[in-house]
Amino acid sequence: MATIYIVMGVSGVGKTTIGKAIAQQLKIPFYDADDFHPPSNKDKMASGTPLQDEDRWPWLDTIVVQYPQWKFKGAVLACSALKKEYRSRLQVDHKQVETIYLSASFAFVQQRLSVRKNHFFNPTLLQSQFDTLEAPESGIICDATLSKDSLVRHIINTMKQQTTSQLGLIGLGVMGKSLSRNFANHNITMSLYNRHVPNVEEDVAVQFVYSYPELKDSCGFDAIEAFVNSLSLPRKIFLMVNAGPAVDAVVTSLEPYLSIGDIIMDGGNSHYLDTERRTKALQEKGIHFLGVGVSGGEEGALKGPSIMPGGTTEAYEHVGPLLEKIAARDTHGNACCAKVGSGGSGHFVKMIHNGIEYAEMQLIAEVYDILRHHGMLSLEEIAQIFDLWNEGEENSYLLEISSKIVRKTEDGQPLIDVILDKAQQKGTGSWSTTAALQIGAPFDTIAQAVLARIISSEKEQRVKGQQHYNIEREEITNFDIATIKSAYHTARIINHAIGFETLRKASKHYDWDLHLSEIARIWTNGCIIRSTLMEQLIPILDGFDDTILFHESVIPQITNGQSNLKIIVQQAMGTGASIPVFSASLSYFNAMIQGDSSASMIQAQRDFFGAHTYQRKDKEGTFHTVWE
Ligand code: 6PG
Repeated sequence: MATIYIVMGVSGVGKTTIGKAIAQQLKIPFYDADDFHPPSNKDKMASGTPLQDEDRWPWLDTIVVQYPQWKFKGAVLACSALKKEYRSRLQVDHKQVETIYLSASFAFVQQRLSVRKNHFFNPTLLQSQFDTLEAPESGIICDATLSKDSLVRHIINTMKQQTTSQLGLIGLGVMGKSLSRNFANHNITMSLYNRHVPNVEEDVAVQFVYSYPELKDSCGFDAIEAFVNSLSLPRKIFLMVNAGPAVDAVVTSLEPYLSIGDIIMDGGNSHYLDTERRTKALQEKGIHFLGVGVSGGEEGALKGPSIMPGGTTEAYEHVGPLLEKIAARDTHGNACCAKVGSGGSGHFVKMIHNGIEYAEMQLIAEVYDILRHHGMLSLEEIAQIFDLWNEGEENSYLLEISSKIVRKTEDGQPLIDVILDKAQQKGTGSWSTTAALQIGAPFDTIAQAVLARIISSEKEQRVKGQQHYNIEREEITNFDIATIKSAYHTARIINHAIGFETLRKASKHYDWDLHLSEIARIWTNGCIIRSTLMEQLIPILDGFDDTILFHESVIPQITNGQSNLKIIVQQAMGTGASIPVFSASLSYFNAMIQGDSSASMIQAQRDFFGAHTYQRKDKEGTFHTVWE
């Protein structure tokens, strides 16, 4: 039995035009329900008298009687079918009846009818149609204000997609749009859904699908049920909505339509503990939930991001091949995407990525500040230094963009000089700091980068401070670029060591089985912290069960670089610079190489004022001293 498609909506919305075009494309007959009205109904309509229920029942029965002739080839029927019960009547004798609802506002239809030539139009009749209309919530729902071609394409694609889309994506912000185009460019059939906010976000997915040729086989939805039903089983749904309550809200709206074994992936920057909670809650219902870290910004999302999924192997087997298709490639051509671990590990790894990102950004800002305000170099000279460094082992995406940033002018003026010096943040940097402290991971460089952003945002206080103290920044007299480069290199290694050690601790703490070398590999391309250093860390982290600072290939580098790091920290701090990440990296390094630390004093103080006890170097046990 073939499907009978009922193109429905109020008079004048375009049912006949669209219905005929669909029938032509599907190569099946078209019928106009108006042709089945008894003469009495036709007379009423011609005189502008609205039809009532009792007029419509015999008319619908006449149509249904035709079904036996239509059911083998299928058919397209243009019929107002305004009420739910009319549609039920049209479906009663045939299982495969699909409604295609052409939706439009009263004003739109009125305007369209008013310009129709040779058409009798009675506004009372139109009002009565809108009063009678009970808009369907399922079936194919379309925005009738789209062009004829767009509408027909949408309807045909929706029909094709109804059981065949490989992947669904929810949330068409900047990242969601770019990822959808990336999936489509890799021949992955997509269903796209964006929330419906009356007068604000309407038909976003449908409109988006028609804006890009690569989405020609994708389908946009404004109704969640139709979206879910368009996905092949097990359903794979990628969320690109704002982290926080929006993720819970979308998951709740999806749940009634999902089946056991379906997979939801959260591609936003969600907090990993939220991901753990959602994973457990959905697991109990037989639904897989994967926290998927995605890095690379808008361009990465479109051309190849670094992807960090965490969750069950069973779920990854279904979604991995799709994610790996759209990911960036490493130098060997392998996807910068791999299951990083179980539970909320994907979002944890992405969070630490962002922490490293914060400190890497801050280090470049500190280098820039030293070169500009203490080395007295021009912006062009700084850009040239960054370019030179980028040609060698300091190469990184962040350094590349920083060179472009210092060269950028607007109306002949350097843009950097007019950008307000208040750094914003969305939260992942401070989340990573809190999370590291909670599992006892020293996070010096990253915590300082977060604090630097916080202090930067206190602009008014800083300006007051400048007025109160009026201490000029001084020039560094014996300025040496090679020393700064070496200090920068050393601080970067220390920052990466801190990031990866936090991952190591978290992996043990949460039992995630993270593979640090593999994480470094998927961070070599597509993501914001891609760099030559990251490439070098892949073999260093492979099978090495300790901090990279103790690796035989790193020790000589740090041995050479640490003295330069000391020089730069002394020079910069001594001349009035604020260099929190440079100084934190040195402080961390100094602490990590002190077999004897100042903590004996802390323990003694704790015992002195609180009888908290201490342990000793010379004998086993727990001790308390009566100090006075
Ligand atoms: C990435 C970025 C991305 C985002 C940061 C910005 O890897 O693509 O990290 O996720 O740009 O989260 O964070 P802030 O607004 O906190 O700087």
